[in-house]
Amino acid sequence: MGKTLVKVEDLVHEFRPAGKIRIRAVDHISFQIEEGEVFGLVGESGSGKSTVARCVMNVYKPWGGTVWYKNICTTEPKSYRQNKKMLQTRRQMIFQDSTSSLNQRMKVKDIIAEPMVISRRTPPRGSCRAEAEFQLSYVGMEASYLEKYPWELSGGMRQRVAIARALAMEPEFLVADEPVASLDVSIQAQILNLFKHLQKEHGFTFLFIAHDLSVVRFLCDRVGVMYRGKIVETAPVKELFNNPMHPYTKALLSAIPIPDPVLERKRKFQVFDEDAFCPGERMEMVSPGHFVLENNGGKEI
Ligand SMILES: Nc1ncnc2c1ncn2[C@@H]1O[C@H](COP(=O)(O)OP(=O)(O)O)[C@@H](O)[C@H]1O
Ligand SMILES: [Mg+2]
Repeated sequence: MGKTLVKVEDLVHEFRPAGKIRIRAVDHISFQIEEGEVFGLVGESGSGKSTVARCVMNVYKPWGGTVWYKNICTTEPKSYRQNKKMLQTRRQMIFQDSTSSLNQRMKVKDIIAEPMVISRRTPPRGSCRAEAEFQLSYVGMEASYLEKYPWELSGGMRQRVAIARALAMEPEFLVADEPVASLDVSIQAQILNLFKHLQKEHGFTFLFIAHDLSVVRFLCDRVGVMYRGKIVETAPVKELFNNPMHPYTKALLSAIPIPDPVLERKRKFQVFDEDAFCPGERMEMVSPGHFVLENNGGKEI
């Protein structure tokens, strides 16, 4: 580690769905991801996580701020255009709901091979079929699934296919937007284990998005907590769990069930007072690598 792969600086994105309504989905956020690192972004639904991912992956053109991938400023149209092909190969995305992200009319073998065909990449294992078979076995599925359609598979299997499809491009950077949120708990654990295993083996850099902290605890090196379009706290994952500073992070942590029934009964929920949320501009450093967004709440402005 040590080299930065992705750097997000002062990112802002707004939606204007109708007339004068403005939704600021992402509000001046900055973070960076080092090479080989698994960075988690957590926060409740609507906090802006997917919008961040889409700005990072050039699906949306952000309103403000910059995104860097290595030494390429991907939010600068000219340098994005010049590097588009490389970026589309090296960066891959996995979505929450593979039912809608996988083409229902294509067989598994063609789904996995499609990005290779589109980018005219020579399959490392000779043919697209051989490559699809290899990737499928890599995510723990037998070759007989190659001839199946997505609707013939369970949710967990579909998600494995989506992962195989992304891996076939041998990405450096993987973005997974709530990839286990729509799965049963037991299947969630299997898929998380698979991610952990694959990340170790490939060493890719990973932006992993989730709405609850228990999922990121298992997988991530460092976490950013999002609330209303802002990152309110960021820290190495252990530090965040041991020493949460922001009231919102504390509330999120208190919502995680404890496996021990005695401790579980004693668990106290912490409620976050949304009205007291009055974010400042600066991130204050608590300890090396641990930053908390200052709060102007209570201060007269
Ligand atoms: N295409 C869109 N048009 C209008 N508003 C949107 C759109 N996408 C997201 N939003 C709004 O932006 C905010 C952040 O959404 P999103 O990034 O999807 O959050 P999350 O992924 O954390 O659930 C929400 O208030 C959401 O309603
Ligand atoms: Mg989302």
